Amino acid sequence: MGNPTTTIPSYDLRDEQDSAEYLLEIAAEAPLSRVPALGAYLVTGYDTVLAALRDGGLRAANATQGFEQLTEAEQAELRPLRTSIDMWMGHTTAEGHHRFQKLLKRYFTPATVNGLRPRVRELTGELLDALDGRMDVVRDLAYPLPANIIADMFGMPAADRHKLREWSRQIAAVFQNATAERLRASQVSVLEMQDYLRGIVADRRARPRADLITMFTVAEREGVVNEDEIVANCVLLLFAGHETTANLIAHGLNLLLDNPDQLELLKSRPELTQSAVEEMLRFDGPVTTVVRETVEPVTIAGHDLPVGEHVFLALYTGNHDPAVFPQPRRFDITRENNRHLAFGMGSYYCLGAALARVESHECFRILLDRFPGIHRGGAADLTVIRPFGHRLDSLPVEF
Ligand code: HEM
Repeated sequence: MGNPTTTIPSYDLRDEQDSAEYLLEIAAEAPLSRVPALGAYLVTGYDTVLAALRDGGLRAANATQGFEQLTEAEQAELRPLRTSIDMWMGHTTAEGHHRFQKLLKRYFTPATVNGLRPRVRELTGELLDALDGRMDVVRDLAYPLPANIIADMFGMPAADRHKLREWSRQIAAVFQNATAERLRASQVSVLEMQDYLRGIVADRRARPRADLITMFTVAEREGVVNEDEIVANCVLLLFAGHETTANLIAHGLNLLLDNPDQLELLKSRPELTQSAVEEMLRFDGPVTTVVRETVEPVTIAGHDLPVGEHVFLALYTGNHDPAVFPQPRRFDITRENNRHLAFGMGSYYCLGAALARVESHECFRILLDRFPGIHRGGAADLTVIRPFGHRLDSLPVEF
């Protein structure tokens, strides 16, 4: 049972500043608070976030919750988008979620993921070959690398790959405090992408290959999934695997440029690449918060929460908790025992974590090996994402 004597503080959302930094201010004051503007609770401390991630009374909240605030006409117009999102693996029933987890693990085996390593190297090399002394890291490397890996997984021909970037950008609105207008654009992209993928699914039924879509068509024949679920979850995979990995690469390099001693250390000791990437994930991981809904009464930080509440779990502040990470505001690529929460934990733990690590390790190794003189070539462009988070839209460098 919780302790009814302490009250839960409330916080507004702030417009003027980076909301991830604001989260740290809240975390310093309370492990559990309320954000009335979101109609939700916010959990910030490492132990409380971890316990909540592992608590079966909390289920991934459907990303479509923002739809409730729209007018009936808007909701009707956006029904196809909602129907697709309702099929995403974490949004279905617990049974549907487990079924998809088992299915995706057929593809995301250690052998398959490691087998992608040479392809990641080749792609990184090609992207860097195309440059001439300068680049925008976001545009020229961080976005195209994971997009091409996902395109490989889907077996997309080279000529179609440019479509992924726009689709991915538009789909991201679903997870933000989006307006009806942004959601309309999302819907256009989701439907376009699904139609496109139906063509690939049909082709793989007739002509199997060694790709993810073929794996899905085999499962379809076994009666494990249907075509609508396949295409909806491919949209989820694009969303889950593209911007996240792109942001890890861009935020990670930005951190190295902000901390020249760490950049020098990594250049002189490439064997630190793994722990450097873990520190990038801890310090500025791409997923700031995950959202849950209470499906049973739960107790968080000593307070009882009833069924039907929305709860934001701040991975970001958990990863900066001084009780777990000594000197949490220090970016230290030699940090040991880095038990960060950047990939979540518990029943929704990231299925692509190993792939994201392979992509970022290879990318940083090759980049610093080829361009040891890398330095800033202009100001970075950071966009604040509501309610909590930020994203680099541009990171100019010279080498
Ligand atoms: C740096 C890159 C990445 C980060 C930081 C990241 C982060 C996360 C986080 C925090 C979750 C848990 C969400 C929750 O608890 O509600 C998650 C789930 C997931 N991620 Fe990732 N991810 C990354 C890359 C990828 C990649 C490359 C893929 C696949 C191509 C992927 C596929 C998934 C899937 C399918 C889930 C849902 C798992 C489930 O519900 O069982 N992720 N990711």
